[in-house]
Amino acid sequence: MSNEAFDDRYELRAFAPGTDEQGAPNAETEAWMQAVGLGFHEPHPGGEVAAQMVADFVVDDQTWLGAHVRRPAPGSVDETWPAGTFAWFGKALSWGDGTSIDTQAISAVTVRPTERRRGILRAMMTHALERGVAEGYAIASLTASEGTIYRRFGFGSAIRERAVRVRRARALPFLVPTTGVVSVVTPEWLADGPGRAVFDRFDARTPGSMVRNTGTWPIVFGLRTGDGEKAKDVRAAVHRPDDSDEVDGYVTWRVKESRDGDTTLEIVDLVYATDEAYLSLWEFLLSIDLNDVVTYSRSRLDDPIVAALGDNRAYDVDHEEDHVWLRVLDVERVLASRPYAVDGSLTLAVTDALGHAAGTYRLEVHDGRGTVTRTADDADAAASDIQLDVADLGAVLIGSVSPTTLAAAGLLRATDPAAPALLRAMLTPPRAPHGITYF
Ligand SMILES: CC(C)(COP(=O)(O)OP(=O)(O)OC[C@H]1O[C@@H](n2cnc3c(N)ncnc32)[C@H](O)[C@@H]1OP(=O)(O)O)[C@@H](O)C(=O)NCCC(=O)NCCS
Repeated sequence: MSNEAFDDRYELRAFAPGTDEQGAPNAETEAWMQAVGLGFHEPHPGGEVAAQMVADFVVDDQTWLGAHVRRPAPGSVDETWPAGTFAWFGKALSWGDGTSIDTQAISAVTVRPTERRRGILRAMMTHALERGVAEGYAIASLTASEGTIYRRFGFGSAIRERAVRVRRARALPFLVPTTGVVSVVTPEWLADGPGRAVFDRFDARTPGSMVRNTGTWPIVFGLRTGDGEKAKDVRAAVHRPDDSDEVDGYVTWRVKESRDGDTTLEIVDLVYATDEAYLSLWEFLLSIDLNDVVTYSRSRLDDPIVAALGDNRAYDVDHEEDHVWLRVLDVERVLASRPYAVDGSLTLAVTDALGHAAGTYRLEVHDGRGTVTRTADDADAAASDIQLDVADLGAVLIGSVSPTTLAAAGLLRATDPAAPALLRAMLTPPRAPHGITYF
């Protein structure tokens, strides 16, 4: 479908969410939220819950985009609700060495079923990424509800996550005794006290961690449900090192009876500023009586609990999928911003169907820092060590996805196999990447 036909049928409107004099979502904000709720099959919040959500969106400085049907059918919600929704806002991505890069975080992508496959997503994405470049972002990010949508727009799956379960019966004791002290606290104490500071420490040391949305905090601390109601079933505990009063980890959880008769302790949030806190909090959860299984849906690929368990077979992976997707917009700035484990130089030829990152780039790393020179405006395969699409550059950035694996998958090409191996060594992250933030 040509742009003319798209523009004839739809109007794209960007705006900032806001409230009216009574503090309720204004009409434009309300209509957009209704459309998102329809897209994600979520109940529509009213009253105070909606007002709080909008206040949080304002704090996060979100920009919203709606694709409106110009000639809606009489009586259809298209008269006021946008048929397509899209949001973006700034969100820092940690490299794990105390530095980070601001990303254009994309969220709330929905298209009304009646308007599918007419180019609404493509129009919204193209518009948003152009705005992102104009706003100074060097990279965009998202978490997806389906795995097949975003590669065509240059996003690569950079971090995966695992839903795991540990059976209590065979888990303890750990092979090595843990250290420090675990105390049960109230979610309120955690939220008013050390919770945010622990996350900040986790974020600074963890490659792939992303700053959380304002509205996420009450949910992960166990104060509210995802629907904005008061949470009644979430408990909390914190960890302190021996000889210290400073909290260096926390966990929130709820206990559920499951269909098969097992009682399951479900981790809501687990945040650790030290490896000791992570181990001790897991050991604590596994020691709680009247439960059979501990489940965690945000586990990382290289989970040290497997090695720590008394019986490694107590640990099962229920599911694994993509978590954070990255889309490089400015290759020079992104590659210059991250740390490197190994010095060296490589030339990368990058293709990009949307144009933003296309080119040939010389990456020179000295003392762990990279300088990047654009040597050609297009992907010059003959003059490069590695040829790859911008989506695969996004995939390898955090250091969780290996360039040698992508070469084996046929996605990344190199004449000399030493080139992907060198890139892999250079991109080795300071520790195992772990993303625990959805947006
Ligand atoms: C996914 C969704 C946003 C697509 O919207 P859309 O307006 O129909 O997409 P477009 O017409 O702009 O299509 C853009 C391209 O993506 C492709 N595409 C769209 N949806 C796709 C899907 N679910 N899987 C694979 N490809 C898809 C189209 O074929 C098209 O390809 P092309 O431009 O290369 O020809 C829409 O189906 C939707 O709202 N889904 C439910 C909510 C959801 O999953 N949102 C994502 C949250 S992260």
